[in-house]
Amino acid sequence: MLRPLRAMFQPQDCPDLMVGIGCLDDAAVYRLDSERALIFTTDFFTPVVDDPYDYGAIAAANALSDVYAMGGAPLLALNLAAFPARLPAEILGQVLMGMADMVKQAGAVVAGGHTIQDEEPKVGLCVAGMVHPDKLLTKGGVQPGDQLVLTKPLGTGLITTAAKMDLADREDVDEAIQWMRRLNRAAGKTAADLDLRGGTDVTGFGLLGHAWEMAEASRVTLKVFFEAVPFMNGVVRYADQGLFPGGTASNYTAYSKRIHFAEYLNEDQKMLLFDAQTSGGLLLAVPQEKMGEFSNMMEFHGEKCWIIGEAVGREAGIQVI
Ligand code: CO
Ligand code: CO
Repeated sequence: MLRPLRAMFQPQDCPDLMVGIGCLDDAAVYRLDSERALIFTTDFFTPVVDDPYDYGAIAAANALSDVYAMGGAPLLALNLAAFPARLPAEILGQVLMGMADMVKQAGAVVAGGHTIQDEEPKVGLCVAGMVHPDKLLTKGGVQPGDQLVLTKPLGTGLITTAAKMDLADREDVDEAIQWMRRLNRAAGKTAADLDLRGGTDVTGFGLLGHAWEMAEASRVTLKVFFEAVPFMNGVVRYADQGLFPGGTASNYTAYSKRIHFAEYLNEDQKMLLFDAQTSGGLLLAVPQEKMGEFSNMMEFHGEKCWIIGEAVGREAGIQVI
């Protein structure tokens, strides 16, 4: 969507804009001085779950994630909300409460916002964060030899679609909600503490869509091991029933031809790797020598992570084996 705008922006127009529209990264980054850069980002979407509090919490965790995906820490947030006039005020109150609680958990503060009337609800945040200009985490920071690490399992697209059609098990939905509400804070902090350079978060374009952006921006070949990729409970069954959301199918159409899949992988397995995620985990490039420490630090924070592949060469591409 942003691609036509890229041509309008020339980097020399604004030397302090370190990451802008021409970069297709997770957030804009603006250098304030030699020690500090501002991270600026926004995200909002229509309801993904029935419970208004969970919806708000997930929308906030998702919007905050782009600050973590750039290696930074959120400072303040503005609520963005669109609601039908007929919706009771207490529902809106619960959604905003869910958002406020997540912002607080992130160590940031809700400083205001804007609400309009709209037939279909939409909520999210505009978030400002801070990072050291030399410590940016970007899609272009992957080096050959790096391990590819994912910090949440995949499947929220399939599970929320199954739930909308009343075909999902309650436990599966609850598990997905817990994952979507989980902040990428510890993963982002660990990445910053270990001075990692390559990373993004896995959201609407699915694992392979976002991995492709990294491969392209970093000019590396990423090798993904299908068997090592974690999925939430029930996901394979919902895939079997063909409950992929529309976004997953468009991801598959947009990216699959550029990716080399081993012959033994079937269509469902390929589609699973494109499942459109909401508030997914971070996808990080971890140099081999830092991998042990990375796992230990994540465990210390009570977080999980999975090594799902590695960067192997200096040509933009992805192989799935
Ligand atoms: Co992102
Ligand atoms: Co985003």
